[in-house]
Amino acid sequence: MTSSAVSRLSVISNHITGNNTNNESRGDIGLIGLAVMGQNLILNMADHGYTVVAYNRTTSKVDHFLENEAKGKSILGAHSIKELCEKLKRPRRIMLLVKAGAPVDSFIDQLLPYLEKGDIIIDGGNSHFPDTNRRYDELQTKGIEFVGSGVSGGEEGARTGPSLMPGGSQAAWPHIKSIFQDIAAKTDGEPCCDWVGPAGAGHYVKMVHNGIEYGDMQLICEAYDIMKRIGKFSNKEMGDVFAKWNKGVLDSFLVEITRDIMYFNDPNDNTPLVEKILDTAGQKGTGKWTAVNALDLGIPVTLIGEAVFARCLSAMKHERVEASKKLQGPEITGESPIKDKEAFVDDLEQALYASKIISYTQGFMLMNQAAKDYKWKLNNAGIALMWRGGCIIRSVFLGEITAAYKENPLLENLLFHPFFDKAIIKAQKGWRSTLGKAIEYGIPTPAFSTALAFYDGLRSERLPANLLQAQRDYFGAHTFQVLPGKENELLPKDKWVHINWTGRGGDVSASSYDA
Ligand code: 6PG
Repeated sequence: MTSSAVSRLSVISNHITGNNTNNESRGDIGLIGLAVMGQNLILNMADHGYTVVAYNRTTSKVDHFLENEAKGKSILGAHSIKELCEKLKRPRRIMLLVKAGAPVDSFIDQLLPYLEKGDIIIDGGNSHFPDTNRRYDELQTKGIEFVGSGVSGGEEGARTGPSLMPGGSQAAWPHIKSIFQDIAAKTDGEPCCDWVGPAGAGHYVKMVHNGIEYGDMQLICEAYDIMKRIGKFSNKEMGDVFAKWNKGVLDSFLVEITRDIMYFNDPNDNTPLVEKILDTAGQKGTGKWTAVNALDLGIPVTLIGEAVFARCLSAMKHERVEASKKLQGPEITGESPIKDKEAFVDDLEQALYASKIISYTQGFMLMNQAAKDYKWKLNNAGIALMWRGGCIIRSVFLGEITAAYKENPLLENLLFHPFFDKAIIKAQKGWRSTLGKAIEYGIPTPAFSTALAFYDGLRSERLPANLLQAQRDYFGAHTFQVLPGKENELLPKDKWVHINWTGRGGDVSASSYDA
């Protein structure tokens, strides 16, 4: 080893916990999976002074990487799992960036013969949290510390600073904390990475992040559709609107890239490229997992659910083409019916902002319930801060959520915080007016509409579920409870009661029984 390499090694080991057993074992962390995300994370780690050992199943990729992108950096290659493990300091830190599902289990199995108690495996893919729970339990019995970490920000984020959401074995955290927090994005000097919680908590929070990502994207798409179809805006005009919004309360990565997409022309004919893209949305499943989990936990995360279904409906292109010829509805022919375009855009901005507040409110309601059901301690302020920078949903707005939860960690509902309460009061007129127009002109707005329906439902002291309970009792003797109050004092209280509904006008208290 050259003297400069020796001195670099001593500098690196200053901020790493772990013993160097021999000169070969000098890698601070190993990374398996040299697709773009993996390569970029390695380069990011190397930039922060860590020695990384890179491995890929197709080993020619390792050589290519070492000869090109990794050249001259503190990056070593390994051509087998054994070699990778031999080149790492103890406890070994090995991060997997491979396809979620079977490949993760396969690499864990391949690693196990070469690992010792206390070594750490980190899964940085988009794994489903029940899989992470299972892997965590299995590896605990073998003395291996397992971390499931959300990694968000795409290729660019991985290279320059992602948002990282690690959870799993708490014992692993002191050994990976400095690497993770060094390479993560920073907001106001704070890293967008902190310990999330046990078992699959990190991947759970990443799943909710992705669900919210689906919701944000759907809302932006609905705003675009409204501007295009009702306002008859050109793409340049819409680009200008998104540019303006990106300087206000909606300042976010997704609004910023939408602005750029609006301005982007096909070089062949100088017309907007986005209008030439087939309108069927893909999905890898993380939004669906969020919606399914919300149903499992009984939390009305309606906006993410609608965003997933909107992608499903978009994928039914053939059926939609047929239906568009057969099914009648309002059409705008000719000029836009909107006279005051400035007011129209301002209302739309408010509709988008209010709906976004609802979506995040629902997301945090879900995480609060998950924390209760799965017995995790989730720190909402910490989660909002992790999402404030680096990730796909990063926005100024997440700074407001961080502040709200910092001020009151026990906040029952985000909408109860004065900041969001006031924001919704201000937005409401524009929100309702925008939806009124969308309904009048037949523009589908599943995400905007469900947001308002949720808001109106939440603020309704009384919902029509009394009738629903009566219906259930009528056809299935499912029983109901009676409202408290003086006017009902002749009816049985604190009991589940059933009545013979076909007896018409019978005495409820007499004919009732305990369920
Ligand atoms: C991120 C993203 C990423 C996600 C893709 C694709 O945080 O960097 O959430 O993890 O996988 O955006 O998701 P869909 O294919 O499901 O849209």
